[in-house]
Amino acid sequence: MTVRIAPSILNADLAHLMDEVERVLAGGADQIHVDVMDGHFVPNLTWGAPIVAALRRFTDAPLDCHLMVEHPEAYIATFAEAGATFLTIHVEATHHLERHIAEIRRHGMRPGVALNPATPLTTIEEIVDEVDLLLVMTVNPGFGGQAFWEPALDKVGRARALLAQRGSRACLEVDGGVARDTIPRLAAAGADTFVAGKAIFSVADAAAEVRELRRLAEAGAAGRMVKQ
Ligand code: DX5
Ligand code: ZN
Repeated sequence: MTVRIAPSILNADLAHLMDEVERVLAGGADQIHVDVMDGHFVPNLTWGAPIVAALRRFTDAPLDCHLMVEHPEAYIATFAEAGATFLTIHVEATHHLERHIAEIRRHGMRPGVALNPATPLTTIEEIVDEVDLLLVMTVNPGFGGQAFWEPALDKVGRARALLAQRGSRACLEVDGGVARDTIPRLAAAGADTFVAGKAIFSVADAAAEVRELRRLAEAGAAGRMVKQ
């Protein structure tokens, strides 16, 4: 299992955003997680495609865009033009998941689907073969720095079993409350892609924290291999 660390810029110092991105990439971050919020799907606002375009001018790193918005289909073309790599939409935000996933791929991006804590895995069973990323939220989306939702560990385990059963190579991403104490357990449960905001950007040495989270995730994943 290849561990991917995806720092979320939600908790970065936005006055020095590109310096912050440079710091985490220097620590070996695999992709930059961009949280897009519309004030409707979640009770908070952030930014849209222009920030992705700015990041894309600055770096070739994969841009992992997480749309916490209603009507995500309205933004597919814009994010493609801006240079998004992954575009993840929420199952709760649309009635036409399959159509929009196909459209994301048609626009040259890698489609992802996200599930809020209360949304069962059964909602994505029919389309799981069509995504490159499955995001199991480990907090209710909307804010950085929230407490980890413990029942997510079991859900991640079931998500991993579903992907394995389908022979899917999709990334299994977790987002929210990912930190030193939770990351080994999430990796042991089967997650391979780890979004972390507060854990990385609230410490003095963000690059070292990326390395430490990777070390802990790899240790957790190794434990999982031994158990199997
Ligand atoms: C939450 C966002 C997350 C957030 C994670 O709604 O989707 O990506 O930045 O923040 P932490 O790691 O601080 O929980
Ligand atoms: Zn996110």
